[in-house]
Amino acid sequence: IRDDPKAVAFYTANYVRQRINEFRPTRKRPFVLGLPTGSTPVEVYWHLVEFYKRGDLSFRHVITFSMDEYVGLPRSHPESYCAFMHRHLYDHINLRAENIHMLDGNADDLAAECQRYEDKIKEVGGIELFLGGIGPDGHIAFNEPGSSLESVTRVKTLAYETVLSNARFFGGDVNKVPKLALTVGVGTVRAAREVLLIITGAHKAVALAKCIEEGVNHMWTVSVVQLHPSAMIVCDEDATLEL
Ligand code: GLP
Repeated sequence: IRDDPKAVAFYTANYVRQRINEFRPTRKRPFVLGLPTGSTPVEVYWHLVEFYKRGDLSFRHVITFSMDEYVGLPRSHPESYCAFMHRHLYDHINLRAENIHMLDGNADDLAAECQRYEDKIKEVGGIELFLGGIGPDGHIAFNEPGSSLESVTRVKTLAYETVLSNARFFGGDVNKVPKLALTVGVGTVRAAREVLLIITGAHKAVALAKCIEEGVNHMWTVSVVQLHPSAMIVCDEDATLEL
């Protein structure tokens, strides 16, 4: 628990840097990192870019997988998760283009696209560290309430709460928010060797309490971290209000 969102972001970025830096000399393979979108990780990415600029962190041997993407939003749309990741992180660091993996929400065959993603994750040896945020309804990636805890990458209809919550990125207009998304599954997150969640703000306090003080529940999909052997939550004081 850290005082505020700034301290959460700083702690998280430092942790990610440390994990990447200590991994490389001991293992000969790349470090596979799963990454979220949303407002919470923006400052984490800012710090990672600063570390890179200062020469304290290199992404040369990092492979990334984004968690999710809207269906039907052009990649060039500023709110596509592809554009988001480029804007906040990828355009500013030395990550090789071929090491960036994202879901294509405009693929002709969405089911095949999801299968391709799962296959790719397996091909590179699985995800080492999955960084995640959560929605106020306890979703991780776009695994809305009711998602199977075994689910893998697939098409998901967004919960109305999520559409409402994400309307802030579309000028407050719910009609502009895509209603479908591609998302890694709860099972995909569970399969990562380590999971790190960042949770800030009083509006996520109920979700945090459900996540760690109640049983594992597919209506609060993030609660699945209780089953994970190596999971950490970094939160601010406001998010702990219901604990
Ligand atoms: C979206 C993303 C989630 C993210 C959530 C929270 O729904 N699909 O991966 O965790 O937003 O966003 P914020 O950090 O802005 O609260």
